[in-house]
Amino acid sequence: MEKKDLDWGSLGFAYMPTDYSYVSNYKDGKWDEGGLTEDHSVKLSECAGILQYCQQVFEGLKAYTQKNGDIVCFRPDLNADRMFNSAARLVMPSFPRDRFVDAVKQVIKGNAAWVPPYGSGATLYIRPYMFATGEVIGVQPADEYQFRILTTPVGPYYSGGVKPVKIVVPDYDRAAPRGTGNIKAGLNYAMSLYPSMLAHKEGYADNMFLDPQTNTYVEESGGANIIFAAKDGTLVVPVSHNDSILPSVTRRSLEYVAENILGMKVVRRPVRFDEIGDFVECGMCGTAAVISPVASVTKDGKETKFENGYTTVGPVMKELRQTLVDIQTGDREAPEGWICHVC
Ligand code: PLP
Ligand code: COI
Repeated sequence: MEKKDLDWGSLGFAYMPTDYSYVSNYKDGKWDEGGLTEDHSVKLSECAGILQYCQQVFEGLKAYTQKNGDIVCFRPDLNADRMFNSAARLVMPSFPRDRFVDAVKQVIKGNAAWVPPYGSGATLYIRPYMFATGEVIGVQPADEYQFRILTTPVGPYYSGGVKPVKIVVPDYDRAAPRGTGNIKAGLNYAMSLYPSMLAHKEGYADNMFLDPQTNTYVEESGGANIIFAAKDGTLVVPVSHNDSILPSVTRRSLEYVAENILGMKVVRRPVRFDEIGDFVECGMCGTAAVISPVASVTKDGKETKFENGYTTVGPVMKELRQTLVDIQTGDREAPEGWICHVC
């Protein structure tokens, strides 16, 4: 199969329609059969639940072309589980997990020509999402929904590729204690837009959000979990007292890679913001971000620099990133069940 004629190496993280999307509708208490569509638009009632009370959840994962030309995706079962949980929290019908994985495979296969070639550095980003199409005016869950998957080829999330970026602690929270920070719902991202806009205006690439209850502990960025490397090489993974951090597939995979493949020590614990100066490296990890190295974090005008990762990617983040990417692209043997073969 011939790949599309695109300049894969110069792609950023932006939307470009591909040949097919996937769509399935929920009505009268059940999901229809679903299938691929060439229609990339959605028609809604003005009173649809998504437009009035923001019932929407989504996922993000990627497809890769391996050296031998095979197309695979990474741990879609974990995205299926997380979307199941996200939907339940917003009183939406869950899309069955096996159908989720099957739909992801169908849409990747349909768009195989759009999955960037091996070695290009680009990937096909898969965005499953679900939203309320049913009409509501009183505050209540809708009774009709649409599940869709769009795909788009992407390059690095932060412009400039894999180089350390500066981030800032905002005066706003992205989640509430006992709120929805631990699910993947569009409403969390709407919350993060204002502090993100302020951060960009001041020249920062992103925000580092602290815990919304005490503003003392590190939580995550607007679109990725945070990890640190300590002086002795230990990987330190922040844990939330409020359970307001999104359970990142990438972060959970990196913990496994660090512990079981690279033989590193991994410590999961609440991390106070005032101790981050003791760490020598920091990274933002997620599907879109992969691992984006963090040069420094600024709070109240004071910049804390990570000494092994300020000007170039530090050795710990570099090795973690390379190992994960090699697993995803098939250059290194993957732990059982991580790679889902598509075609
Ligand atoms: N945290 C937030 C807020 C995110 O939006 C994402 C992106 O999905 C992540 C973390 C990383 O999660 P994952 O590794 O599953 O993509
Ligand atoms: C992802 O990494 O898949 C995300 O959803 C993050 C988003 C901010 C692009």
